[in-house]
Amino acid sequence: MSELTPNPAFMHRCLELAALGRGRVGNGALVGAVLVRHGKIIGEGFHAAYGEAHAERALLDAFNGQVLPEDVLYVNLEPCCHQGKTPPCTNILIERGVKTIVYGMVDPDPRVTGKGIAHLIQSGVKVVGPFDRELCENLNKGFIQVRKNQRPYITVKKAVSSDGKIANHDGSPMKITSKEQDTWSHRFLRARHDAILVGVGTVITDNPQLNIRFDQTNDISLMEGLNRNIFRSKNSIQPYRVILDPAMKISLDAKVVSDAQASRTILCVTPEAADREQGKVAVLQKRGVRIVRIPLQGDHFDWEALWRALITPVEDYHGLTSILVEGGEKTWEVFKKAGFMNEEVILTGKLFKDLP
Ligand SMILES: NC(=O)c1ccc[n+]([C@@H]2O[C@H](COP(=O)([O-])OP(=O)(O)OC[C@H]3O[C@@H](n4cnc5c(N)ncnc54)[C@H](OP(=O)(O)O)[C@@H]3O)[C@@H](O)[C@H]2O)c1
Repeated sequence: MSELTPNPAFMHRCLELAALGRGRVGNGALVGAVLVRHGKIIGEGFHAAYGEAHAERALLDAFNGQVLPEDVLYVNLEPCCHQGKTPPCTNILIERGVKTIVYGMVDPDPRVTGKGIAHLIQSGVKVVGPFDRELCENLNKGFIQVRKNQRPYITVKKAVSSDGKIANHDGSPMKITSKEQDTWSHRFLRARHDAILVGVGTVITDNPQLNIRFDQTNDISLMEGLNRNIFRSKNSIQPYRVILDPAMKISLDAKVVSDAQASRTILCVTPEAADREQGKVAVLQKRGVRIVRIPLQGDHFDWEALWRALITPVEDYHGLTSILVEGGEKTWEVFKKAGFMNEEVILTGKLFKDLP
C-alpha cells in the first residue's frame, strides 16, 4: 500500500464538525469525522448529543454508498472499542470496510487509551496518527481534564483597569472592558466553555446574565480558516451558569434564576441552607434551576464533591467539562489558592480614574 500523507484540511474539517457538539455532548468528547475519496470529502458526521451516535457511526449511518478500499476516514479522536452508551465504533468501521484511518489524538481515558487503535490494526486497518494532535487536544481540553483528573478544565477571567482595580471602592460594578473586548470574550471565552461560574457576591452586586451575546455582523471576517464554526452560533445552546452560593443568599429576582434560561443555571448551596430555605428551593426548582447540595470544607465547598456534582451525568443533566470562572475577587482567590486554574485571562481596560 502506498504511503499516505495526511491532509490537515480534512482534520480541520473534523474539528469544525466536532465543535458543533459544544454544550450538547455533556461530559463526552467533541468529535467529528470525514470520509475522503480521491481528495474530496464524500461523507461527514459528528457527535451531536450526549448518548447519541459517535462521529464515525453518525457518518457511516448517513453514508449510503459503498466504502471503497482507497477511501480514508479522518476523525479527531481515537475510535472507541468498548460498549458504552453506544456500540463500539471500531466494529462499524471494520464492518463497513474502512481500510485507512487518520486519527487526531488518543483517547485520554487511561482505561481505553490505545485499545481502539490496536483493535483496528489487528483487523487489518491502516491507522495513521496522532495527526494534528495539538489542535485536537486543544478542542477537547475539557474532556481530557475530566477523564484524567475528574475535574473540569478551568479558565479564570478577570477585567482589570490599567491601575489594577476590578470594581468601585464600595464594591458596586464598574464597566472596565470595551465593547470589542466584551465581544471577544463572549465569542472566544464564554462560547468555548461549558459553563460560566461566579460567586454569589457578583450576582448580588452586578446581577449579570452570564450568557453569550455578541453581534455577528462581522463574523465572516473573523471566521477565517479554522475559526469558522468553532464557536457557537446565536441559536445554539447557552453555557451553564454555575453560582457558588453556600448560604443561598441569591434573590429570586436575580436574572440568572428568573430569565428564560433559568434551566441552564446550577445553584450550589450547602445541604443546611437547602433544608432551611425549602420555599426558595421549591420556587427555583419549578423554574428549572438545578440546585446542587455541596458540603463545606472550611470556608469553601468541598472540591471533590463540587467537581463530582458538576461532571457527573444525572437524569437529564449530562455533565460538563470546562468552566470559565468570571469572579469576583473572593472566588478568584479560592480557586487560585486551591490551584484550580488551567488558564488565566486578564483583560486590561483604561485607567480606573478615567473610567466613566
Ligand atoms: N472586574 C471583573 O472582572 C469582575 C468580575 C466579576 C465580579 N467583579 C466584581 O467583584 C465584586 C464581587 O466580588 P466578591 O469577592 O465580593 O464576591 P464573589 O467572589 O462574586 O462571591 C463571593 C462569595 O461567593 C461564595 N463563594 C465563592 N467561592 C466559593 C467557594 N469555593 N465555596 C463556597 N462559596 C464560595 C461565598 O459566598 P458566602 O459569602 O455566602 O460564603 C463568597 O463570599 C463585585 O464588585 C463585582 O462587580 C469584577
